[in-house]
Amino acid sequence: MSAPVIMTVENGIAVIEINNPPVNALSQAVRSGLIECVREADADGAVDAIVIYGAGRTFIAGADIKEFGKPPQEPHLPPLISEMEAVSTPTVAALHGTALGGGLETALGSHYRIALASARFGLPEVKLGLLPGAGGTQRLPRVIPVAKAADMITSGAMIGAKEALDLGLIDEIAEGDDIRAAGIAFAQDLVKAGKGPRPTNARPCNPVTSDEMAAIRAKVTKAARGLMAPVSCITALEAAVSMPFEDGLKRERELFMELMQTDQRSAMIHVFFAERKVGKIAEIEGVAPRDISQVGVIGGGTMGSGIATSALLAGLEVILAERDDAAAARALETVGKNLSGAVKRGKLSQAKYDAIMADQFRTTLDYADFSNADLVIEAVFESMEVKQDVFGKLDAICKPGAILASNTSYLNINDIAAMTKRPQDVVGLHFFSPAHVMKLLEVVVADKTAPDVVASGFALGKRMGKIAVRSGVCDGFIGNRIMNAYAKAINGTVLAGASPYDVDRAMENFGLAMGLFSVADLAGLDIGWANRKRMAPNRDPRERYAEFADKICELGRYGRKTGRGFYVYEEGKRGGTPDPEVLEVIAQERAAKGIQPTEMSDQDIIDRYMAAMINEAARIVGEGIAQRPLDVDITLLNGYGFPRWRGGPMQYADTVGLEKVLNDIKTYQKEDDYFWQPAPLLEQLVAEGKTFSSLNG
Ligand code: 3HC
Repeated sequence: MSAPVIMTVENGIAVIEINNPPVNALSQAVRSGLIECVREADADGAVDAIVIYGAGRTFIAGADIKEFGKPPQEPHLPPLISEMEAVSTPTVAALHGTALGGGLETALGSHYRIALASARFGLPEVKLGLLPGAGGTQRLPRVIPVAKAADMITSGAMIGAKEALDLGLIDEIAEGDDIRAAGIAFAQDLVKAGKGPRPTNARPCNPVTSDEMAAIRAKVTKAARGLMAPVSCITALEAAVSMPFEDGLKRERELFMELMQTDQRSAMIHVFFAERKVGKIAEIEGVAPRDISQVGVIGGGTMGSGIATSALLAGLEVILAERDDAAAARALETVGKNLSGAVKRGKLSQAKYDAIMADQFRTTLDYADFSNADLVIEAVFESMEVKQDVFGKLDAICKPGAILASNTSYLNINDIAAMTKRPQDVVGLHFFSPAHVMKLLEVVVADKTAPDVVASGFALGKRMGKIAVRSGVCDGFIGNRIMNAYAKAINGTVLAGASPYDVDRAMENFGLAMGLFSVADLAGLDIGWANRKRMAPNRDPRERYAEFADKICELGRYGRKTGRGFYVYEEGKRGGTPDPEVLEVIAQERAAKGIQPTEMSDQDIIDRYMAAMINEAARIVGEGIAQRPLDVDITLLNGYGFPRWRGGPMQYADTVGLEKVLNDIKTYQKEDDYFWQPAPLLEQLVAEGKTFSSLNG
């Protein structure tokens, strides 16, 4: 293996190349190579300036995340950067690709920075439950305004080269695309101009008033909602503002090490790797996806229009089929509205919008127009008969090799595929509403789905900017099956003593944006009610069915759209208010069933909610519906609002301990022996002393 850091000296310029593919992360070998080269160059009397750049697609993408959680190895990054900053030879960081985290901190420790126009810069440590721990919180506010530094550090968002230049983060945008040559030319100009080192730590921190700083803290703390890293970022920035550089650096290090020990950090790093692993499945390794350029969408309701929008934004040509002219016109309008939303948010130019609406998108009343489509996604009414009819028709019309996909949320894809003579081309593509916004895509693989169709589902997800997760076939697939389980547990929790308002408060404090009952009110209670009525004949008589949600619907309370659901909604007010009428309905059911309500703390509620989620997820993994626990985590995080900093239900289970979860389930079993049956996989892992993460591969 070649050295990850090499240096050449050309005409008085020492050029240090970092070559640690894929993203030049600052592994121990890179750190030691870098500091040795800098020392050697600084000691070399023939060297007038030093240039540091990254080989391949990018400058340095940060510390090597794989080393986190292991014993730290010298040389450590903070003293390395300080030593680099102190050299007497002017140092230039020549940046391309993404200079992130420790990479940007290395650049800030260099004396000058130039970049290609395409380069981007950021301190994304906060997204890993950390703060920039190699001087980023101390040096950045010495270079750019404090408020902007706070924004970059607490959001982790990247900025482009133009903004970086305007802010003074970089000195120059280089022309062309040869960063090495640009770095050398810049260094030669420095030497010619007689410019020496310009250490960032010698600059004062940019001015900020204590009122401004207090306002920044208040805003960040409010938005953090239980997340520690953003608040610690502000504490580190306050140190930059109020302390000498060296003291601030020490404070930053302490805060970094504190965060390093937290479950939040482990959870967020788990998510980082899980999101990259979720698409790596044996079935599609080395399998080329089919070419997709024209997509048919059937159904122009909220879901179909969202799917069409997503496909259009991904650059695909879309034909949307509706039943009649009026429905087609409504679909056209909805897609147009979705796309203008993208224009408003700056995600799409007006010119691109016009081009999409003129050339990329049309509606039809005739499935015959799908004869040339590479993929057809149906998003029609959730009924097996209706879907089977659609697939029979598609089979007759679509060209050989076209992928036929169903967006069903619950139905059996095998039964749908059976209506065609090409079950190998049939797959479930389960989008989440609103489909042009939500990140999750479940790729539901039926018994006969061909591997290149699965690969195409993943490729489509990537092209649409989504995170695709593989699911096997079962009622509700990974996500909705788990949601049904925890919804039942929550209903049981309400009968046992909690109010819907207690549940929502507990869930929101746990980190969800909204509690289950607020979400239900928003979605419309009648939808779930209709579903429950449909399922009623199949209900097992042993199930302890909670009736209060049906009773509330019987009162005409369908949620927000009727002004009353679990909450009462007043015109002009954002949230709902609790309603004694709802509590009375619940109290009556408890009385009828002879249930003595007990006091429930937020933790009691969360324990039940999580136990149900984890137990069902363990079944799903045990049955092979999800191949790995990480597939469950990614599903819940991207489709169901599970807080990212808790890492997903399986990571959460590992954190609290599987034994505790199993014990909780056994306790609840005494109350309801039908629902609370421990999943065999959970029992097995507890018996073997293993974690879910041990199954992630
Ligand atoms: N350390 C180790 N591996 C990393 C890494 C890092 N910092 N960044 C990316 N990788 C790995 C990925 O896991 C992936 O590995 P795989 O091929 O085995 O799955 C590979 O590099 C390519 O990454 P992506 O698939 O994400 O490639 P993209 O081109 O989509 O994105 C990127 C590239 C924008 C650099 C993205 O990988 C990214 O955001 N990386 C993380 C950056 C980051 O968080 N840096 C801060 C680290 S913490 C730090 O620096 C602490 C310091 O303050 C002390």
